[in-house]
Amino acid sequence: MNLVFLGPPGSGKGTQSALLSQELAIPTISTGDALRAEVEKKSQVGNMAQQYMTSGKLVPDEVVIEIIKNRIVLDDCKKGFILDGFPRNVEQGVALNEMFDSLQLKLDVVFLFEVDEGILIKRISGRFVCGNCKEVYNKFFKKTNKDGICDKCGSTKFETRADDNEETVRNRLRVYNDTTKSLVEYYQKKDLIYSVDALKSVDSIFQGLIAKVKSL
Ligand code: AP5
Repeated sequence: MNLVFLGPPGSGKGTQSALLSQELAIPTISTGDALRAEVEKKSQVGNMAQQYMTSGKLVPDEVVIEIIKNRIVLDDCKKGFILDGFPRNVEQGVALNEMFDSLQLKLDVVFLFEVDEGILIKRISGRFVCGNCKEVYNKFFKKTNKDGICDKCGSTKFETRADDNEETVRNRLRVYNDTTKSLVEYYQKKDLIYSVDALKSVDSIFQGLIAKVKSL
């Protein structure tokens, strides 16, 4: 099962891909996470990507395409994978199509997370992640069960993302609106889009995703 999660920043792609990945026992491949790991390592790719990420712009296509190319051929992807945050424009979509053709893979569905923009700033400004296992929380919508302790791994170290400040978020939203419309049309022509009402609760969205996956 090969799935794409497409949606604006804060729409819940990472939250749902973590749940679905566990349910289906397939990996999530997040270009955002992969790039953040490079930034943390201070690698050449990371140093270059950081400039784009802190201003909310897209990292150049060739960089993210290379990340995906190298990742989807690994053994743990044999039963399928979830692409979270890739592709983000038509060029990346075409590149993904070429990769799939050459590996004789099929894209099963593109989940399009649709949500009112007003809520996104609140979701993002409330987001914090475990510094150890990267579990995602929210000070308004999803607190830890015990104050200051990660539910998943017990760590007491939490962090916020460098690109979650209001100015960068507004740029990320602008970039999303500018680049994604044509990508949605590209996938609509291929009849692959499945719309997700991302305003619903985490659990109800998750049940909807499972129902769709089971129907494939
Ligand atoms: P990336 O890391 O992909 O960020 P994004 O697309 O902006 O998405 P987010 O991670 O912000 O949001 P999400 O939809 O995963 O929401 P989440 O589940 O955390 O990309 C970052 C940057 O990397 C880009 O700006 C770009 O520079 C670069 N990049 C990445 N991919 C690239 C590519 N392909 N090409 C070029 N550049 C690329 O949820 C948000 C919050 O809301 C959380 O706190 C969560 O707890 C809460 N929440 C989630 N669901 C719900 C719900 N249903 N109800 C209430 N609260 C909820």
